[in-house]
Amino acid sequence: MITEKTLFAQHVEKGLSSTQKFLSSMYFYDKKGEALFREIMNLEEYYLTDCEMEILRVQGNEIAKAIGDEPLDIIELGAGDGIKTKELLKHFDFENVTYSPIDISEQAIIDITAKMKEWLPQLNTKGICGDYFKMIGDFKSDRKKVILFLGSNLGNMTDDQARGFLGQLHQVMNTGDSILLGLDLIKSEDIVLPAYSDSKGVTAQFNLNLLERINRELGGDFDTSQFEHLATYNEKEGIAKSFIRSKTDQTVIIKETEGSYSFKKGELIHTEVSRKYDLDIIRKIIDGTSLQLKYQFTDHRQYFTNLIFTKI
Ligand SMILES: C[S@@+](CC[C@H](N)C(=O)[O-])C[C@H]1O[C@@H](n2cnc3c(N)ncnc32)[C@H](O)[C@@H]1O
Repeated sequence: MITEKTLFAQHVEKGLSSTQKFLSSMYFYDKKGEALFREIMNLEEYYLTDCEMEILRVQGNEIAKAIGDEPLDIIELGAGDGIKTKELLKHFDFENVTYSPIDISEQAIIDITAKMKEWLPQLNTKGICGDYFKMIGDFKSDRKKVILFLGSNLGNMTDDQARGFLGQLHQVMNTGDSILLGLDLIKSEDIVLPAYSDSKGVTAQFNLNLLERINRELGGDFDTSQFEHLATYNEKEGIAKSFIRSKTDQTVIIKETEGSYSFKKGELIHTEVSRKYDLDIIRKIIDGTSLQLKYQFTDHRQYFTNLIFTKI
């Protein structure tokens, strides 16, 4: 049987055996990672949450109207804690709406389901724990739907992956269905870089938790004091990247993969890409689908945008 643990072990084996070592950001979110990400969202340097919160709080009513309130299934991919989403959901007619938050973190789903019951008791909430990449086929239905993908989660994909992903989503949508995307906009390094390398070191802990997770779940023997967090940002391309850097020459053994992995001093494990966007980039990504950009909302600093695409 292929379990989540087996998939994680296979991924780690592949990522740490590659010439350019990598680990997927999808594995950040175990219980500890989930708690650290909540801390990140409260950091002053992590402007993304504040900006999207402002958009949903101030313009939530307009966004809900633009989506429409006939019988509607609202599906949220990588929902996290739902605090921002609540600001949008409260504007819908609960009689007509179902809300399905999906998250790979079991803890996130337990928490968001309980919180939504407390915040919006009339809303029909049905949390689903799983990998949204594997669930796209299940979204097909006759009811009108809107797919929420907030927090600039799309930015964790390369543009080719984003094109493939939106193309797949578009195939399970009916005419008139929508996607609400939250995207971080391209801006200068002095604003972007601190969001991925904060002064309190929470993003560093979050990144290094990947190695701790390998130790906990796969029997790894990483000495995390011998690795460090590194964030970079290329302002021209609009791409931030996170890495884990080996501080010394060392070898790590992982029981579950039955492998040993050598690291040179300074060698990098690529862990995350955080793409920033402008409208030209996003238009190129959706080119070839029948998704049409219908509405654009931004925060007062124009750091972040929420876009509604409708299938025509
Ligand atoms: C950066 S957080 C954003 C949370 C929320 N959307 C927000 O804007 O605050 C990413 C969330 O997506 C979840 N996630 C990441 N990859 C996933 C996947 N492949 N399938 C389901 N959930 C995933 C994580 O567990 C985490 O809760």
